[in-house]
Amino acid sequence: MDFQFEISKRLSREHQEVTALLNRLEKFVQAHGPAGQPDWQDAEARRLMSDLRGALRSGVPNHFAIEEQELFPRYAQEGGADLVDLLLADHLVILDLAEELKPLLEKTLNSPDALSQAEWETFRAKGNAFVTELRSHAEKEEFGFMPAMDELMDPVTAKHIFDCYVQM
Ligand SMILES: [Fe+2]
Ligand SMILES: [Fe+2]
Repeated sequence: MDFQFEISKRLSREHQEVTALLNRLEKFVQAHGPAGQPDWQDAEARRLMSDLRGALRSGVPNHFAIEEQELFPRYAQEGGADLVDLLLADHLVILDLAEELKPLLEKTLNSPDALSQAEWETFRAKGNAFVTELRSHAEKEEFGFMPAMDELMDPVTAKHIFDCYVQM
């Protein structure tokens, strides 16, 4: 999408970046069935887990926080409360999944031992759910919410929100 304001461009770029990460995670999980746990020492697996850890620790929470603090309230005030409620509910589901994935990710990165069978099955289930939920959420925002928000903001507000975001 083409947006006029820096904050919209930045959030849009992050939607694309996280979608690319989710596509990698989906492929990774699909490539290893319930009985075929990956080699966690493999460089590719480590890179993916490390990128995912960064997204779960700060990328996704910060992105959600600026939306919740600065964008959603303004949009709700302009008559978009129903969509905002949906997007907020998505955030909760996604952050819950992230909390469940975090300790498993840490384990794959910190311990040379593979996950237990139960942990690997949880990783697969929660990882797949995380991919589905966040990808659909990012699409909803990218093609619905963000274009409307980009229209709605004035330049001073957009600059203020961008400044808040870079200081997070
Ligand atoms: Fe969001
Ligand atoms: Fe977003």
